[in-house]
Amino acid sequence: MRIPVINPIFLLTLTTILRCYSAGPSLFSIVQQRTHSVSVTDFGAAGDGIHYDTTQIQSAIDACSATGIRPCHVKFPPGKYLTATLYLKSGVILDIHKNATILGGPNIGDYPEKQEKWYVVLAEGETDVGITGGGEINGQGWEFVKRFDERKNVMVSWNETGACSGDECRPRLVGFVDCRNVRIWDVNLIEPAYWCLHLVRSENISVEDVSIRGNFTSPNNDGIDIEDSNNTVITGCHIDTGDDAICPKTYTGPMYNLTVTNSWIRTKSSAIKLGSASWYLFKNFLFDNITVYESHRGLAFQIRDGGNASDITFSNINITTRYYDPSWWGRAEPIYVTTCPRHRNSKQGSISNVQFINITASSENGIFLSGSEHGILRNLKFVNVNLTYRRWTNYAGGLLDYRPGCQGLVNHSTAGFVMEHIDGLNVENVNMRWSEETSGGWDNPLEFRPSTVNNISFLNFHSDLYSG
Ligand SMILES: *[C@@H]1O[C@H](CO)[C@@H](O)[C@H](O)[C@H]1NC(C)=O
Ligand SMILES: *[C@@H]1O[C@H](CO)[C@@H](O)[C@H](O)[C@H]1NC(C)=O
Ligand SMILES: *[C@@H]1O[C@H](CO)[C@@H](O)[C@H](O)[C@H]1NC(C)=O
Ligand SMILES: *[C@@H]1O[C@H](CO)[C@@H](O)[C@H](O)[C@H]1NC(C)=O
Ligand SMILES: *[C@@H]1O[C@H](CO)[C@@H](O)[C@H](O)[C@H]1NC(C)=O
Ligand SMILES: *[C@@H]1O[C@H](CO)[C@@H](O)[C@H](O)[C@H]1NC(C)=O
Ligand SMILES: *[C@@H]1O[C@H](CO)[C@@H](O)[C@H](O)[C@H]1NC(C)=O
Ligand SMILES: *[C@@H]1O[C@H](CO)[C@@H](O)[C@H](O)[C@H]1NC(C)=O
Ligand SMILES: *[C@@H]1O[C@H](CO)[C@@H](O)[C@H](O)[C@H]1NC(C)=O
Ligand SMILES: *[C@@H]1O[C@H](CO)[C@@H](O)[C@H](O)[C@H]1NC(C)=O
Ligand SMILES: *[C@@H]1O[C@H](CO)[C@@H](O)[C@H](O)[C@H]1NC(C)=O
Ligand SMILES: *[C@@H]1O[C@H](CO)[C@@H](O)[C@H](O)[C@H]1NC(C)=O
Repeated sequence: MRIPVINPIFLLTLTTILRCYSAGPSLFSIVQQRTHSVSVTDFGAAGDGIHYDTTQIQSAIDACSATGIRPCHVKFPPGKYLTATLYLKSGVILDIHKNATILGGPNIGDYPEKQEKWYVVLAEGETDVGITGGGEINGQGWEFVKRFDERKNVMVSWNETGACSGDECRPRLVGFVDCRNVRIWDVNLIEPAYWCLHLVRSENISVEDVSIRGNFTSPNNDGIDIEDSNNTVITGCHIDTGDDAICPKTYTGPMYNLTVTNSWIRTKSSAIKLGSASWYLFKNFLFDNITVYESHRGLAFQIRDGGNASDITFSNINITTRYYDPSWWGRAEPIYVTTCPRHRNSKQGSISNVQFINITASSENGIFLSGSEHGILRNLKFVNVNLTYRRWTNYAGGLLDYRPGCQGLVNHSTAGFVMEHIDGLNVENVNMRWSEETSGGWDNPLEFRPSTVNNISFLNFHSDLYSG
């Protein structure tokens, strides 16, 4: 292996531009503009997709960060860069050329000992970091498929390391943990072995024009998991994956200010899901201008651990939801708002001030609003909502899905809205249409669990059959 000795200062491109401004007489201004970058090939990376480039890339990142100039771009020219875990450092932007791929290694030895550091790219406790360039980071997820199963792939488990057990014991793709000022834009995150983009206890995060493609048949191929982080903006993203696409969770502290806009999602689980890890508050979230396509569940709250959720708006969203195999969570609900204790003695969080405005949905199941005795749903608002109910797959329906925990799956006829344990429900300009041809299995437009729903207002609500 060649370890090049290159003084990073030589790689610094310094552009000094002298400009004369005629704003005032004899007014001169010197504008110094410095752009700084290094290329991984200058550090000896082969980019042949066969030899590991880990050391070379890491040297480039470290050298770039050491210059102290922010941002410093680490460039990946066209090629395939096979690598073990890379540590992104403060001030550094990974700049992956549109014809370049960072390829995560498929072997246990490619990842650190501690399972919580199993990522292809990991930034931990860093500031001013990012990823861009139009290229790709690829986790080679197919290498982790132990047995292909058209219902759900059986995946490799690295549980022999003792680091984790069960079937969620594989590396994630990209992680930002305890970071500040994170910017990920114009990049493709492809085939993670497990979760794709993981944002943990971080602050000031922007994810823009990012395309995520997991495997539609592989479990736990989450899109973006955001945990205990504040001030996150996700926009212009395209997510097509097997498991939850955008999934805020709270494990160690609250989460404030998440905005998701202008995005497209398809998943075999929930498109947007708060929870199920929900130990602390979720507050001040906006989801706007989003398309949810043929997913197993649309907009979801799965509050199970005692945290509360409040001030959440969903607006201008088109949804189609359908049934898939029941081994995947979701029962084709376009909207799913639930609180219930994960275990018999778990605390019950509540959900309040949630609005759904300008929503259209075409789905194989109805809306499920299910609070619990000590986890009441308060102040839910549905305004300008068009719901079309019809069946187009052959999977069996007729189940309420309380998973995980709680009552699990419960046989129950389909309703337009199922409502339980709610205080404050405002429904305005809501149209419900039921396909005449497939209405045989339908039951109630509105189903209230007796004595648990109070403070209800329906204004301009219609439910009717339609043909076609
Ligand atoms: C990227 O790859 C495509 C397809 O191989 C090629 O047509 C194009 O010229 C490449 N672009 C650059 C800038 O290398
Ligand atoms: C590890 O996973 C395999 C299959 O996924 C399973 O058979 C085995 O019991 C697991 N071992 C442990 C210690 O969890
Ligand atoms: C947030 O991060 C961006 C870089 O992504 C930076 O330009 C901006 O100044 C940061 N905002 C704050 C308030 O620190
Ligand atoms: C998010 O904001 C809350 C409230 O100010 C604070 O308690 C928490 O520590 C913040 N989290 C992060 C990761 O900055
Ligand atoms: C998912 O993985 C299976 C098994 O590796 C593969 O056959 C299939 O093409 C993949 N599908 C997608 C959409 O990536
Ligand atoms: C959330 O956003 C609001 C409005 O921009 C801001 O005042 C507040 O400080 C933010 N909260 C946190 C925890 O950063
Ligand atoms: C909505 O999002 C799409 C991308 O999915 C974008 O093209 C369109 O401009 C957005 N509309 C508005 C009003 O921002
Ligand atoms: C939803 O569908 C309506 C009607 O087709 C369209 O006008 C609107 O732009 C769509 N919104 C999104 C977010 O795709
Ligand atoms: C949720 O809200 C309830 C009622 O306001 C409060 O008693 C409880 O402590 C909150 N839970 C958490 C985890 O903050
Ligand atoms: C719902 O349908 C009505 C009647 O077709 C239409 O006027 C309205 O714009 C639709 N609203 C939404 C949010 O799609
Ligand atoms: C809902 O749609 C109407 C009609 O398109 C629009 O005027 C209004 O601003 C939208 N409301 C929200 C909250 O986006
Ligand atoms: C639902 O009912 C069917 C037929 O009666 C039964 O086979 C199935 O076990 C029931 N499922 C649950 C979750 O109770």
